[in-house]
Amino acid sequence: MTTTVTPPATAQSLTLDKLVKTYSSRGRESFQAVKGIDMAIRPGELVALLGPSGCGKTTTLRMIAGLETVTSGSIRIGEREVSQLPASKRGIGVGFESYALYPPMSVRENLLYGLKARKVKGAEQMVDSISRRLEMDDMMGLRPAGLSSGQKQRVALARALVRNPPVLLLDEPLSHLDASARQRVRRELKVLQREFGYTTIVVTHDQVEALSLADRLAVMDAGVVQQFGTPDEVFDDPANLFVAQFVGEPQINVLHGVARVAGGTVRVEIGSGAGALHTTVTGVADGTNVTVGIRPQDCVIGTDTDKGVRVTVAYFEHLLEFGLATSTVAGVEEGIVVQTPAAESYEPEQQVTLTAPAERVYLFDSDSGERLR
Ligand SMILES: Nc1ncnc2c1ncn2[C@@H]1O[C@H](COP(=O)(O)OP(=O)(O)OP(=O)(O)O)[C@@H](O)[C@H]1O
Ligand SMILES: [Mg+2]
Repeated sequence: MTTTVTPPATAQSLTLDKLVKTYSSRGRESFQAVKGIDMAIRPGELVALLGPSGCGKTTTLRMIAGLETVTSGSIRIGEREVSQLPASKRGIGVGFESYALYPPMSVRENLLYGLKARKVKGAEQMVDSISRRLEMDDMMGLRPAGLSSGQKQRVALARALVRNPPVLLLDEPLSHLDASARQRVRRELKVLQREFGYTTIVVTHDQVEALSLADRLAVMDAGVVQQFGTPDEVFDDPANLFVAQFVGEPQINVLHGVARVAGGTVRVEIGSGAGALHTTVTGVADGTNVTVGIRPQDCVIGTDTDKGVRVTVAYFEHLLEFGLATSTVAGVEEGIVVQTPAAESYEPEQQVTLTAPAERVYLFDSDSGERLR
């Protein structure tokens, strides 16, 4: 059954401009947690914010929500500048981990509370519909003290959703759910988001979750958005080594190499005399030390010893849909992981050659990690 409540008349864009947050505590050095973020999120778009612990994800959401002051920069919802407005005037739905539920009220009463105070029409149907879709029927009569952390999380999510906000901010909304509930609630969240048209930012540590939910990914590190693009763009065309390593499972292989430019073609030598890979990169001089990135999915094992890089299989794992061959190269410390087709099998000590499509052999500046093109 679908809900009877009408979606927001017009979905709103969310625009961040040079957003900065500096924390300063007395007697201590100030710390810049968010270092000038620019992001233009389209009306109704779902953006997943990904990044390592401490990179500034929660701080960014809290500034947008109005729970944290903005040091500088601007936040606009549609054309409206909101960075100086109190949280209650921004019209943002927040589903954060710090759930503030009223202890004496049941879950249902908690969900209805804000809506009734604002005399929202159809509040009961809205609460019933959303809670059913988030599989909350069995907890509606319980008090908050009796809830598990996974249940509390769903209450926080439902509470943000029933307000039917134009902008929705979710900080790891499903992290306490068990694997199967997590998948189902994730799907329902995506459907609700599409149906209602909330412009949404979801913080997650889970790549599969990010990929399944997001229209675009924002990959963040050290207070800076390193890349903002569709999942395919981020995976296929990483802006720098950080993004290449952060997105993708199994992780991208990272090796040291030396560029060889001859007769208009560029190759990159791997290891000591083990061979070279062709690349489409042109902006590199002969003899330059570079960092090479090759995804396990892009590596191809062959037997033609004249082509590619000679490697030795160290061990092989058969994982039903595919295999993983970890191999070693003379003169290279790191192992190279190759994802192989399900039908293939390799033995330890087997000598093979490794190639990759030239456009999938990424080069990065060895110092800055920036992508060479
Ligand atoms: N109130 C505060 N005062 C000082 N420093 C803070 C404050 N809140 C956060 N920080 C610092 O700002 C940085 C970013 O924190 P933030 O909580 O935004 O990270 P995060 O990306 O959400 O991490 P996680 O994935 O662990 O939740 C961290 O280094 C943190 O220690
Ligand atoms: Mg956080």
